[in-house]
Amino acid sequence: MMAREPVIRRWYDQMSRIDRDADMTLMNYGWASLDSSHLPLRLEEVDEVNRYSIQLYHQVAGAVDLRGSDVLEVGSGRGGGASFIARYLEPGSMTGLDFSPKAIDFCNNHYSVPSLGFRQGNAENLPFQPSSFDAVVNIESSHCYGSIPVFLKEVHRVLRPGGHFLYSDYCPENQLDTLRHQISQSGFSIKSEADISANVLKALQTDDGRKRDLINRKVPRLLKGFFYEFAGLQGTRSYNSALRRGEKIYFRFVLEK
Ligand SMILES: C[S@@+](CC[C@H](N)C(=O)[O-])C[C@H]1O[C@@H](n2cnc3c(N)ncnc32)[C@H](O)[C@@H]1O
Repeated sequence: MMAREPVIRRWYDQMSRIDRDADMTLMNYGWASLDSSHLPLRLEEVDEVNRYSIQLYHQVAGAVDLRGSDVLEVGSGRGGGASFIARYLEPGSMTGLDFSPKAIDFCNNHYSVPSLGFRQGNAENLPFQPSSFDAVVNIESSHCYGSIPVFLKEVHRVLRPGGHFLYSDYCPENQLDTLRHQISQSGFSIKSEADISANVLKALQTDDGRKRDLINRKVPRLLKGFFYEFAGLQGTRSYNSALRRGEKIYFRFVLEK
């Protein structure tokens, strides 16, 4: 196990300790349309608060028809995205996997959506038989992993032939070619690829006030700075370098086994 893994796990366990009221069920930067004529995604009232993070799920997981499929999300966090997929995209089964035991406990107690389940495990050693799923979703999680090639090999193993890997995260701009190479080495073909950095940046700007209020309300003073950074609030290093200056790219891939 890499030394940073326990640190990352402790951080995400800490999120569950702080957010006992389930105000933070999604933990990604979000997606916003750049086109004012774009029709907004129709959401139930209860989901409006997480609109931007849900829109990112819709952009990534909604790229193929998941109706009736067996879907796995790797790095499901506090389950808001897996719950969105289960309720709106109508898969036959939806499994969320995360390596934070506290996040998995939270999800198992919080959600009661038929066909939705959660289990603890590691992206680099998935606890599933080969050819178990029609689609795998992975959003803003892979930057935490020790080895992307090992992760890609695991996703390829658990997918059925013809299955889709719906993959989105940020990475340094100069590592994107390496990632494309790793993807083709792992046996996937790239069906589509998009740079969604501008959409993610717009979501960060639009949702900044809500996230800042939430953090100010819930997080102990000593940890606030870390949470601002984690949430990519305006003025932080993650916000400035990650996307605004173009040093990091937020990508979205549709891959096929
Ligand atoms: C930024 S959060 C995103 C969570 C979720 N996808 C969302 O958008 O709300 C990253 C998640 O990846 C999980 N994670 C990090 N490393 C992991 C690993 N090796 N295996 C499984 N999950 C991992 C963390 O525990 C965390 O829940």
